[in-house]
Amino acid sequence: MTQEPDSSVQMPRENAQLVVVGTGYRAVGDLTIEAKASLEQADKVLCLIGDPLVTQHIQHLNPTVETLDGHYAPGKPRQVSYEEMVQHILAEVRRDQFVCVALYGHPGVFAYAGHEAIRRAQLDGIPARMVPASSAEDWLFADLGIDPATHGCQSFEATDFLLHHRVFDPTSLLILWQVGVIGMFDRVPDFDARPGAAVLAELLTMHYPDDHPVTAYEASPYVAAPPRVTTVPLAKLPDTPMSAATTLVVPPLPERPMDRDVLARLTGRA
Ligand SMILES: C[S@@+](CC[C@H](N)C(=O)[O-])C[C@H]1O[C@@H](n2cnc3c(N)ncnc32)[C@H](O)[C@@H]1O
Repeated sequence: MTQEPDSSVQMPRENAQLVVVGTGYRAVGDLTIEAKASLEQADKVLCLIGDPLVTQHIQHLNPTVETLDGHYAPGKPRQVSYEEMVQHILAEVRRDQFVCVALYGHPGVFAYAGHEAIRRAQLDGIPARMVPASSAEDWLFADLGIDPATHGCQSFEATDFLLHHRVFDPTSLLILWQVGVIGMFDRVPDFDARPGAAVLAELLTMHYPDDHPVTAYEASPYVAAPPRVTTVPLAKLPDTPMSAATTLVVPPLPERPMDRDVLARLTGRA
């Protein structure tokens, strides 16, 4: 949904500014120096974090912090919650103050509210920008020892991947986000991941063998606790416990042979 500038609000906005920062995954440790400075200097902080430790830390940096969690409710369509969050953020910015919004992970990765609030603030002529942070994918590369350059890397939202028949290359790494909430359009506590995982497994087995290993991955927020890494044969995916925080890794099939003609053209050695 797109919206035009709010012409009903005519007050001067000399101080209005919006900075959307990420808090990464490691509780507190992923906060960059720039994000921390924005949180400390803001007139108002809004956050959507999940981890109470991080929210508590932000409260320590800036006592104005208020959480956006209240916009979620069981059975409420996610898009309605996101729109309310954007409206909430803009209402604070339009009070002519410096607002910092903290979102977990990278604030621009699978995070509609941050991008949209920045877009609408900029339409209003208000300075607005994003400060990046570690996403789940960044932690996944580190924890699982995967370099996305080796075979290339494809990254999709799992429901979107199924609904739109996204075209992918099985000889390249495949990462599927939100794999534990496939088909969950409204917020459903205790969502059953199995039906969605069964549909996904059915599609993937058209491209990979049944025993192809796939990994359900969850980064750990704490240095002392390891990530949750569960590797199973593809056929067993529907029986694998997954949550809203699970990302699925499908390793590549063996490389297809190199195209010698292209190689010759690239090297000039025919
Ligand atoms: C709404 S997206 C948020 C992504 C986040 N902004 C980021 O930069 O990583 C939620 C999805 O991120 C991934 N995710 C969230 N927490 C995770 C964790 N602890 N470990 C691995 N993936 C996670 C899962 O795919 C989850 O369904």
